[in-house]
Amino acid sequence: MANLIGAVTTSHVPAIGAAIARGRQHDPYWSAFFEGYLPVRRWLDETKPEVVVVVYNDHGLNFFLDKMPTFAIGAAPSYRNADEGWGLPQMPSFQGDEDLSWHLVESLVADEFDIVTCQEMLVDHAFTLPLALLWPQRPWPVRVVPVCVNTVLFPLPSAARCLRLGQSIGRAIDAWDNDARVLVIGSGGLSHQLDGRRAGHINREFDQRFMDSLALEPEWAAQQSINELVRQAGTQGIELLNWLVARGTMTGSVTELYRNYHIPISNTATGLMLFEHRH
Ligand code: DHB
Ligand code: FE
Repeated sequence: MANLIGAVTTSHVPAIGAAIARGRQHDPYWSAFFEGYLPVRRWLDETKPEVVVVVYNDHGLNFFLDKMPTFAIGAAPSYRNADEGWGLPQMPSFQGDEDLSWHLVESLVADEFDIVTCQEMLVDHAFTLPLALLWPQRPWPVRVVPVCVNTVLFPLPSAARCLRLGQSIGRAIDAWDNDARVLVIGSGGLSHQLDGRRAGHINREFDQRFMDSLALEPEWAAQQSINELVRQAGTQGIELLNWLVARGTMTGSVTELYRNYHIPISNTATGLMLFEHRH
């Protein structure tokens, strides 16, 4: 039986990747943001997860507006990123875990989540940046499984549905016939809006309430409507749906070990949470 050791939720602003590529981590603009990741990196050094399920949203690299699955899972031996126009470096490919991928695909479909299965998949900054923040070494010392949620093209899945997807993934990980240590990452948010009349929208009060809810009562966030979440968090802040999926995977007892909140990076209120999970 696999061991789901916990979850990390984090923002994924592309400028982070440019800062890493140019070695700017200690610049005044960046230092407090990057230092926020050190406690999580220490915890990862101790707990040594072997497989990471990354819940993220694609921003037009692998799925464009002509074909937009609500939920998609990668089932490839490896994945790679590609130029998205942000000037981020292209990396050597990342090692997948086909066994866990297919187990998740079969379990989710049996549990009535009709996901799209991708045997080839490009992964964008929302996938690569959380991994780059958590593991500075290359290659990353983990195998990966991408879980992609549509947070970009309406209609979006409800928050309640996202929490239930997470719970279904969590039960599947628990039942996986492998004793690997598994970590889940939720990528996106917190409040931000990149375009329109509210460009630059940031909502500290809501972000704090949302983080409290993830720690103590995810049902609060899960019962909010998509329109209310967009009103509070912004048209891109709705990426926090990925945090709800990640939180849902932990069906045993959950302890918040750490959080950081830093405003702004680019146009985004950045957040980071670390949860420990035990059965
Ligand atoms: C920004 C934030 C995002 O989540 C994203 O996907 C792209 C850009 C930003 O704040 O610049
Ligand atoms: Fe984004």
